[in-house]
Amino acid sequence: MNKKINKILSKKNKSKVICLTAYSKNVASILDRHCDLVLVGDSLGSVLYNYNSTKEVSLETMINHSKSVRLGVKKSLMVVDMPYNTYRNPKEALKNARLVMKKTKCDAVKLEGGKKIISIVKSLVKNKIPVMGHLGILPQTEKKFTYKGKKLTERNKILKDAKLLEKAGIFSIVLECIETRLAKKITEQLNIITVGIGSSANCDGQVLVFDDLIGLSQNRFRFVKKYVDLNQIINSAVKRYKSEVLTKKFPKAKHSFKN
Ligand code: KIV
Repeated sequence: MNKKINKILSKKNKSKVICLTAYSKNVASILDRHCDLVLVGDSLGSVLYNYNSTKEVSLETMINHSKSVRLGVKKSLMVVDMPYNTYRNPKEALKNARLVMKKTKCDAVKLEGGKKIISIVKSLVKNKIPVMGHLGILPQTEKKFTYKGKKLTERNKILKDAKLLEKAGIFSIVLECIETRLAKKITEQLNIITVGIGSSANCDGQVLVFDDLIGLSQNRFRFVKKYVDLNQIINSAVKRYKSEVLTKKFPKAKHSFKN
């Protein structure tokens, strides 16, 4: 198995796994200094392109952003989301995942779903494509964006799906908005790494959409913590620039060329 994946797996019950999303090189190179895993998430559909859902994100868009991210990620594990309708059966999934791996040089792909995608996961793993799973809220197909695990039947299904995915060969799984005690149970019962988003501190690691963490997106989700308000910082920098151009304070002689 990939050395970087083994390194992440070795953190189980020892140290938290740090993950964030990136969509381009400059951000990726900063995240790479601090993260174990950098995810090119299809959340870029809403964050960058204002799409109503991640359903609209194409394979080409994911590949292009991932190529840029690859330039910034040197030491972390780089995972790319397979977009909606690109893994409907094992054959389609293998063709598209191979393309993603080849064009982006990423380390692994991420797929959403449980029991329904088991044969797909098995086929990818058999063909040496490392897979990360994703349970809980599944943005590509979700109808109700509320936390998962309110009812016993739902809790049992998620736990069963997580075990099936582990058996199929995934190395890690994103748990999105899963009830706190269920996240604990899954994390305790699996040997692979659980990465939570809105799923409590009971997971082996955490992930956030980077634009939410820096305050660039307007999302107000309960599970997001804004560590800096970059929107305000960029706004005041641009305001100063505008004012200095208007008042001819910028550019100065030192910014110009003279024979
Ligand atoms: O698309 C994405 O960014 C994700 C994370 C939120 C886990 O899947």
